[in-house]
Amino acid sequence: MKGNKYNLGLNNPKLYIRTFGCQMNDYDSILIAESLAEFGYSLTSDIKQADLILFNTCAVRGLAEHKAVSELGTTRRLKEKKPNLVVGMIGCVAQKLGKDLARKYSFIDFVLGTKDMYKLSEFLKVKESKPLIQTNLNYEIKGYQTKKVDSVSAYVTVVRGCTHFCTYCIVPYVRGKEESRSLYEIEEEIKTLVGNGVKEIVLLGQNVNVYGNDIDTNLETLLLNLSAIDDLKRIRYLTSHPKSVNAKFIESVKDIPKVCTHIHIPFQSGSDTILKKMNRQHTCFEYIEKVKLLRKSIPNIGITSDIIVGFPGETEEDFLATVSVLEECRLDNVYSFKYSPREGTIAFKNMLDDVSKQEKERRLEYLHQVTDKIALEINEGVLGQTQEVLWENIKEYQGKEVLEGRTNNFKKIFSDFQEGKVGTIDTVKILKVTKNSLVGESI
Ligand code: SAH
Ligand code: SF4
Ligand code: F3S
Repeated sequence: MKGNKYNLGLNNPKLYIRTFGCQMNDYDSILIAESLAEFGYSLTSDIKQADLILFNTCAVRGLAEHKAVSELGTTRRLKEKKPNLVVGMIGCVAQKLGKDLARKYSFIDFVLGTKDMYKLSEFLKVKESKPLIQTNLNYEIKGYQTKKVDSVSAYVTVVRGCTHFCTYCIVPYVRGKEESRSLYEIEEEIKTLVGNGVKEIVLLGQNVNVYGNDIDTNLETLLLNLSAIDDLKRIRYLTSHPKSVNAKFIESVKDIPKVCTHIHIPFQSGSDTILKKMNRQHTCFEYIEKVKLLRKSIPNIGITSDIIVGFPGETEEDFLATVSVLEECRLDNVYSFKYSPREGTIAFKNMLDDVSKQEKERRLEYLHQVTDKIALEINEGVLGQTQEVLWENIKEYQGKEVLEGRTNNFKKIFSDFQEGKVGTIDTVKILKVTKNSLVGESI
């Protein structure tokens, strides 16, 4: 059995990969699946068919971590039935827990952190040392590129890691320091993806605006270079940290062709006291000014954000300040989260998680209501207008097929099915709206 430990000799081995967490994980999972395809692995969506099971995990909140670890637990039985089955944990929880995972789940074959997971196919050749645990962050990842994705829009990570150290956040500890990929490598990857049918690229970074700082270039240059790729229709980028979005950046990107009119710019809290404790390095006033400048410089821009409720010490007054920033900025959509203490972070060490679960839930629910009300009002404002839409998918809706796409400013939109539309851009008249989406017809 030992010689066959990693299933390398199998005929047509099957890979099941379950991805939790952010877009960066989606991108990493594609990279890893592609590297395993070179060893003959094909993807299966049925875990029972798999010869290799991978959990690409997220540690950003307790719940995300718990979900990943408990799914890992369910594979114990599968392994009992199929002793040659290989099970591995990769990504942020793997990085965070390392050998503790292997100690608790003795059946696991490997735990590979956020950098070492890229070398998975190399490790598969090694048949000894059980289980394999690697969580080294002290080197730079180079030379991995995706080639083909099964969708109109593709994620491409351009800057890995994070060096901001917001006090609540685990990401800098599990992803290491900021490292930008070279312009050349990114452009080459995107040209390949576009050659294989991709129409839209979403550039990823925890703060994508720092792209290039460590290699003497910048996001503006990357966007400009990418906009010259012939068959590429749209370019998006996320996430933007408020402290990096300034007049110079807005001025230099606003007219670059193909760059979409959407920015995801989390403000986390509308209270300066809380922002300071979060180490966000901006004030509410500055955030509101940036939003005003964005709206003034880029007509029709969609602005989305993240908010945390119940951060240590958050009073009702702090929370209401958050609500009023949201109302003043009239953001198009907001993802809100209950504060979750993460071991290893500064907030975990130094601040008491003193807002009760019930209170966090109440604040979250209230924010959802405000977010939805604003989103609906904004959407009602575009009724009867036209928007430029890239059709991305065909979806089943109430028993019939519909087209699904995004407006340039990132609103989800549906239309009656038409042959040959996926991957094309249309001008669409908006006929109906809800808080979450638009319905329209091509004109
Ligand atoms: N790099 C991005 C965020 C990545 S994490 C940025 O700086 O905005 C995505 C979101 O998860 C964050 O914006 C934050 O709102 C939320 N988040 C991060 N850590 C959290 C924690 N400990 N508890 C609750 N929400 C958290
Ligand atoms: Fe986390 Fe802050 Fe980095 Fe975003 S910028 S990943 S919230 S530390
Ligand atoms: Fe989660 Fe890691 Fe992304 S912690 S949010 S998967 S960087």
